[in-house]
Amino acid sequence: MTDLLAAYAGRMALVTGFASGIGRAVAERLVAAGAKVVGLDRRDSDLAVERFVRVDLADEDSITSAAATMPEEISYVFNCAGVSSGAADPATVVRVNFLGLRALVEAIVPRIPSGGAVVSTSSLAGFRYRSNSDKVLGLVRTAGFDEGCQWLEEHAAYVRERGGYPVSKEAVVLYTMERCWTLGARGVRINAVAPGITETPMLADTEKAFGPSYLPVAPEPLGRRSTAGEQADVLVFLNSPWAGYVNGQTIWSDGGSISARLPGALLE
Ligand code: NAI
Repeated sequence: MTDLLAAYAGRMALVTGFASGIGRAVAERLVAAGAKVVGLDRRDSDLAVERFVRVDLADEDSITSAAATMPEEISYVFNCAGVSSGAADPATVVRVNFLGLRALVEAIVPRIPSGGAVVSTSSLAGFRYRSNSDKVLGLVRTAGFDEGCQWLEEHAAYVRERGGYPVSKEAVVLYTMERCWTLGARGVRINAVAPGITETPMLADTEKAFGPSYLPVAPEPLGRRSTAGEQADVLVFLNSPWAGYVNGQTIWSDGGSISARLPGALLE
C-alpha cells in the first residue's frame, strides 16, 4: 500500500467550500500531496489550486453551470461547503447544505471512475438522523433540486421548528446511506464525516449570531474543540484507498461527544 497522501498524486479532486475552514484544510492537504484540485466556492481564495470555479450551492442554475465546466474525469469529491443556522433562513440552509450538495454530486457522478470516492460533511447536529428519518427521508428521496425545494415549502413549519441545520445534516447522513448501494455497484464509495465543534470562521459566525453560550466551550470528553485540520484528515482518509471497504458510513469525528451521552439517546 502506498502512503495515504501519495495515493492522491496526479488525481483530480473537487473540493467545495475550499476557501475556508475544513474545506481549505482538505485542499491544502491535497495540493501538498500533488493532487489536481478544483476548488468550488461562492468566493475565491488565496490558496493556489488547479482551478477555481465559483458556485452558489443554493442555486440550481449555478450548480449546473459549474458542473458543465468540470474536467472529464474526477476521482474524488469532497463536499465541505456549508452554512450554519445563523447565516441564513432555515430553507436556505437546507438548500445549501443538502440540496446543493446532492445536485452537485449527482451532476458529477458520471465523471467519477470506478475506484473513485465521494465524502461529505454532516455534523454532530445530525446525530438524530434515525429518529427523524420518517420525515427527513422524504426530503432525501425527492427527485431533484426543484422537488427538494417543493418539499421544503410543504414542510416549512417542520423545518423552521427543528432548524434547517439539523435537518440538512441528517439528510446528508441518510443520502450517504441510500446512495452507497447504487454508487457501490459502480465501484464508487460514498461516506460522510460528522464533525464536532470545530474552530473555523463558521463557528465564529454561529457564536456571533446566537451568543457565546450557544455552544459549549469545552465539549466532553476530550475537553477541547477540534481543529479544521483534524476534520480534514478524516475526510482525506475516507476518500483514500486506505478506506477502500468503508462505504455508506458516517464517521462521528466529535471527540467522543455522542458516545459519552447515554446510549439510549442514540435510539431516540
Ligand atoms: P466555513 O464557514 O469556514 O467554510 C464554509 C465554506 O463554504 C466557505 O468557504 C463558504 O464560502 C462556502 N459556502 C457557504 N455557502 C456556500 C454556497 N451557497 N455556495 C458555495 N459555497 C458556499 O465553515 P466550516 O466550519 O469549515 O464548515 C465546513 C463544513 O463542516 C460545513 O458543511 C459545516 O456545516 C460542517 N461542520 C462544521 C462544524 C464547525 O463547528 N465548524 C461542525 C460540524 C459540521
